[in-house]
Amino acid sequence: MSETAKISIQGVETELPLLVGTENEVGIDISGLRAATGAVTLDFGYKNTGSTTSSITYLDGEAGILRHRGYSIEELADKAEFLEVAYLLINGELPTKEQYDAWDNEIRRHTLVNTDIQNMFDAWPTGSHPMGQLIAMISSLSSFYPESLNPNSGEEARMRTITRLLAKMPTLCAMISKNRIGHPIIYPKNNLSYVENYLNMTFKHVTEDYELDPVFVRAMNKLLILHADHEQNCSASTVRLVGSSHANLYASISAGVAALWGPLHGGANQQVIEMLEAIAADGGDAQKYIDKAKDKNDPFRLMGFGHRVYKNFDPRAIIIKKSADEVLEKLGVSDPTLEIAKKLEQAALSDPYFIERKLFPNVDFYSGIIYRAMGFPVEMFTVLFALGRLPGWIAQWREMMDDKQPIGRPRQIYTGPVSRSFTPLNERG
Ligand code: CMC
Repeated sequence: MSETAKISIQGVETELPLLVGTENEVGIDISGLRAATGAVTLDFGYKNTGSTTSSITYLDGEAGILRHRGYSIEELADKAEFLEVAYLLINGELPTKEQYDAWDNEIRRHTLVNTDIQNMFDAWPTGSHPMGQLIAMISSLSSFYPESLNPNSGEEARMRTITRLLAKMPTLCAMISKNRIGHPIIYPKNNLSYVENYLNMTFKHVTEDYELDPVFVRAMNKLLILHADHEQNCSASTVRLVGSSHANLYASISAGVAALWGPLHGGANQQVIEMLEAIAADGGDAQKYIDKAKDKNDPFRLMGFGHRVYKNFDPRAIIIKKSADEVLEKLGVSDPTLEIAKKLEQAALSDPYFIERKLFPNVDFYSGIIYRAMGFPVEMFTVLFALGRLPGWIAQWREMMDDKQPIGRPRQIYTGPVSRSFTPLNERG
């Protein structure tokens, strides 16, 4: 294969180096293009633009492959603990038993949040969306740990910031749940595992005992792993972009949470359940909603369908669907929205509109059904996505910082008016 790509622009020819990844993906390094030819590249939504090299996650959308640091998502979801996957993503290798115990112990030691954070919750209006609160709460950690403001203050300080964030995230997410219903918060219990602690803080009532259900714990562990990273998606790219200005980790992650909130990204998991409920309330006619999604004059989209990168199937959706069946069966829950989801999936997968556009159920399509069976309110679903995605965001940020990447600053093609002179206000007609 040629080592360069030749490009001729308005009579100026140049050769650009090719980069070949370990899985043989080919990229053209266009960083010298403007200097050589005066041209920049244009790619709305970065549909065909690699923003970085990365050794964290490999994704083949055509083959439905997702691997973290070389390990398949199927194997990780089946065999690993969430904190093991977090370690793998952030540090590059699976931990030894000793490393894992130290990592787990360090995270357990930092689960508590300052009581001033609790006071901040009092200021939120009842009914405010959990994601808005999460964005603010993560960002506010920088006020409590001012040493985190300089992300270049050395590896030890940086790892402390990382472990603090991983440790406090479940506590913050659970506090948001409690605040939503006006109940007192439940403190972390550090003899519990990461997942157990989160479930306990979320579902235990201060007045009652709460027994952790191993089915819930396993399902939650799996769901968090399935969300842990997804290479250069909208929120990860946001974390990298914000972090590239050397904003602190808490600010960068908080920006990633904001990006995740949108319904085209992580916010879709809330919208899927709301859509399924609306279809159920409307008599369960899946075809009617398929037709709406196909109608170009109707803004309605089938939420939980389609993906920028997966064009055959989303491997995470396959695992989640199986898990949804298992959890619901174990709990003896019969959820009519699961039946509607299956009907909708069947109808869409046999419809030429969806087949031609390669639209398949994505990770968000079935996750909400499990979350709901476990007792999470719909508005918390995207918070759960964020809880799972946190290690991925941290890993992406860390890689970007370690690579000493320059500040992210795209170019544009200006399409506005050319130079013209200013007419004073009183002379304008
Ligand atoms: N329902 C109906 N039509 C759709 C849908 C959908 N969910 N998704 C894409 N299309 C159509 C779209 O109208 C377009 O048709 P045409 O070629 O005739 O104009 C074609 O498929 C390509 O769509 P696109 O919007 O250009 O594709 P994209 O890669 O820019 O968008 C997406 C990907 C995920 C934003 C989009 O599929 C979508 O809006 N899906 C619903 C929201 C959703 O489930 N998001 C969660 C994504 S997975 C979790 C995550 O990682 O965030």
